Amino acid sequence: MKLVTNKNNLKGTIKVPGDKSMSHRSIMFGSIAEGTTRIKHFLRADDCMSTIAAFRALGVEIEETPEEIIVYGKGWDALKAPTEAIDIGNSGTTIRLLMGILAGRDFESTLFGDESIAKRPMNRVMLPLNQMGAHCVGSHETEFPPVTVRGTTSLHPISYQMPVSSAQVKSAILFAALQADGETTIIEKKKTRDHSEHMIRQFGGEIFVDDLTIKVKGKQKFTGQTMTVPGDISSAAFFIVAGLIASNSQICLTNVGLNPTRTGIIDVVEQMGGKLTISDASRDTGKLAGTITVETSQLKGVEIGGDLIPRLIDELPVIALLATQAEGITIIKDAAELKVKETNRIDAVVRELTTLGAKIEATDDGMIIYGKTKLHGGKVTSYGDHRIGMMLQVAALIIDDGEVELEKAEAVSVSYPEFFKDIVSLCN
Ligand code: S3P
Repeated sequence: MKLVTNKNNLKGTIKVPGDKSMSHRSIMFGSIAEGTTRIKHFLRADDCMSTIAAFRALGVEIEETPEEIIVYGKGWDALKAPTEAIDIGNSGTTIRLLMGILAGRDFESTLFGDESIAKRPMNRVMLPLNQMGAHCVGSHETEFPPVTVRGTTSLHPISYQMPVSSAQVKSAILFAALQADGETTIIEKKKTRDHSEHMIRQFGGEIFVDDLTIKVKGKQKFTGQTMTVPGDISSAAFFIVAGLIASNSQICLTNVGLNPTRTGIIDVVEQMGGKLTISDASRDTGKLAGTITVETSQLKGVEIGGDLIPRLIDELPVIALLATQAEGITIIKDAAELKVKETNRIDAVVRELTTLGAKIEATDDGMIIYGKTKLHGGKVTSYGDHRIGMMLQVAALIIDDGEVELEKAEAVSVSYPEFFKDIVSLCN
């Protein structure tokens, strides 16, 4: 696909689509709860539709209306063995969190996905779940999907020190722990997104969090809720960067979720000297959301690492692009997790941005970006990774010579089906 190139004057307002992490979890909690859950501003993108399909395959009735998704939850015990293997598409969140739910169910199920999913590590989830008494195995004795989960209703609690900083792993253990025979303790390495913890409380459950230590009792039951999903800051990120780097631009992003475990990109933009303001911040059913406005800015390179990484892990590809337009060097470190995302995002970002003229080097746990560089046209690929595809479209906006041809552009529908349309709406 030919991308939109050479655009100044990006002006306008984007209503950012619903948060992906929260949309997945709303279906999951709605499915194990008793009573009806109504979800407004649900993200109707491929990944979250995979979660809906998975829970339908487990016997949950889920209705889609133009305004909302309605989940008719009948509690944990209403989940039934699927009649065939469940296809979770490209969604790491679906497969990993679902394994935690299935660990405590008294039946066997097999989960598989696309080419990318078949390469994603699952030991990080299988090991703790198996310690609790479930029996999870990957394909041909490996840790890779397809994964078969033989669950049990007598899971035992564990005390688990997490070896990786991952909200997916934490959430999978939480779902198993909620079904176990006692109290589970999870100790995080670094603080990761805490949407599962919030939803446990929102759906009427209990959880104790003290900094990196989480304690959760087993045999908990939940009650259906009505909720509105805020906009996804990870989707807003592409427009935040576009507004900062395209000349003479101002972009307004409304109703963006501002959960502090997700707002690392705002900290980085501020450190780089970017013009970003937050207004209309308000809480809807306990969730903080607000309007983010950005404008064209002079930026300087920064160092990004440590506790900040989990707070912006999905934004790093587009932050790397931002750094190509900052004066000086930007170092991204402590981000080896990027290698096991939908694709190896260190390699993908370095290769594709180099093709477009950036000066950027891969390191073992991140990247070094030398700014400020002029970008030019070229032939690039998303590697089937939505966030790489969207980052490359933002890069294309600031190219003033040549064309950008993107292979596997359709990957953006994993999290943002209307992305290219929304980009065009800002071009005057
Ligand atoms: C997610 C957690 C992150 C993130 C992913 C969504 C979640 O993955 O990259 O896009 O919803 O829990 P990890 O937990 O593997 O870091």
